[in-house]
Amino acid sequence: MATVLWTSLAALFISLAHARLVFPPGTDMGYIVPDDPGPRKFEDDTNWLNEIDADVYDQPVLQRGEREILNDIESALWKTVEDRARQEEARSAGEDETDVQVEPIENWHGRWFPHPPEELTRKGNIPADLPDYLKDDKHGVVMGIPSSMCDNGKVNLTVDWNFSPINYTCFDPKHHRIPVQDSLPSVEKCVYVPQNYTPEHICMNREIMYNTSLPTFGPHRPIWPVFGEYKFVPVQRWLHNIEHGAVVMLYDPCTEPLVVHRLRKLVTGCIRKHIITPYTFLSKERPLALIAWGCSLEMSTVDEKEVKTFIKKYGLHGPEGNYTKDGGYKEGLIRKAKYPPGSGEKDSNLCPS
Ligand SMILES: *[C@@H]1O[C@H](CO)[C@@H](O)[C@H](O)[C@H]1NC(C)=O
Ligand SMILES: *[C@@H]1O[C@H](CO)[C@@H](O)[C@H](O)[C@H]1NC(C)=O
Ligand SMILES: *[C@@H]1O[C@H](CO)[C@@H](O)[C@H](O)[C@H]1NC(C)=O
Ligand SMILES: *[C@@H]1O[C@H](CO)[C@@H](O)[C@H](O)[C@H]1NC(C)=O
Repeated sequence: MATVLWTSLAALFISLAHARLVFPPGTDMGYIVPDDPGPRKFEDDTNWLNEIDADVYDQPVLQRGEREILNDIESALWKTVEDRARQEEARSAGEDETDVQVEPIENWHGRWFPHPPEELTRKGNIPADLPDYLKDDKHGVVMGIPSSMCDNGKVNLTVDWNFSPINYTCFDPKHHRIPVQDSLPSVEKCVYVPQNYTPEHICMNREIMYNTSLPTFGPHRPIWPVFGEYKFVPVQRWLHNIEHGAVVMLYDPCTEPLVVHRLRKLVTGCIRKHIITPYTFLSKERPLALIAWGCSLEMSTVDEKEVKTFIKKYGLHGPEGNYTKDGGYKEGLIRKAKYPPGSGEKDSNLCPS
């Protein structure tokens, strides 16, 4: 069964390594499969591994996370080599070589990326009665075509958010305002997102859960929000904008309003494709965040240079990072985005001033 599936897999060749990253159809999960080194003598094995080592470490630039994955592959391969060496030793010492277990290399499947299979329930995500024109090979469900059978930006919105003011209000701001800590450094994180990863679009008949409080990629709703600032937008929506190269600004509703305003001014002055929304899952130490495809920047205070650097570096990334069309979701829109003076609809000039 598994082998039948594997024949239809899309494969991404990790550029240098003797391994592939594969995505079973209809999933957001990759799988690292080392090439079978074939029957080799111990010396051949070690030479071959040394070649990979050299390959990897000669490269000045690897993609984010690529080295980590390559290290994983190598350690798995080395394990096989060592097992074989121990078997050889046992043989030459006249012991029973079959006492030494050698794990065949094909049995090693590496780490799951980005999620282990149990964490997402992906089967049957497309409603059975969905007409063909709403289906697509890449995302499961097409993007941007509103349909009351799946998602039109209006139906079943409470699946993502129950419209509670708790998600955008600072109750008792006198006592609960989060103190700004000017000396607390910001935290920038990027995760490795494989190049051929395409997030799945999921209709409003299902919940979408993320396994992290600050997702930077992942399955989302087919209809994305109009770029701009909102009273509140659920993560299941704004993750779609990020796939189109947007930068999302998140802030805890109890953040100092002046600090929120400084960040808002920088973001709107840098990039048209932005979303601004309150978010209650940020830490109290760093109640402000910027999110772009694969990357986040969590902040306690606003440093202009840092914010602009982040937006210039990571804005317009994402698998459809050049896509400029506006979305069809407007629930809670306060202010539609405009491009900053000196740039254009396509955000051809990030942070122009
Ligand atoms: C709204 O806030 C509550 C309380 O923190 C939380 O449990 C809920 O998940 C939030 N909803 C959204 C959509 O963020
Ligand atoms: C909306 O929710 C109802 C009840 O859960 C469900 O039967 C229906 O299929 C949903 N509609 C869409 C478009 O997801
Ligand atoms: C999410 O999944 C990844 C990949 O398995 C794992 O490394 C990470 O710890 C998970 N995060 C959370 C918050 O569970
Ligand atoms: C955006 O367009 C540029 C120029 O056409 C291209 O080099 C780049 O790969 C595109 N980026 C994405 C994410 O599609």
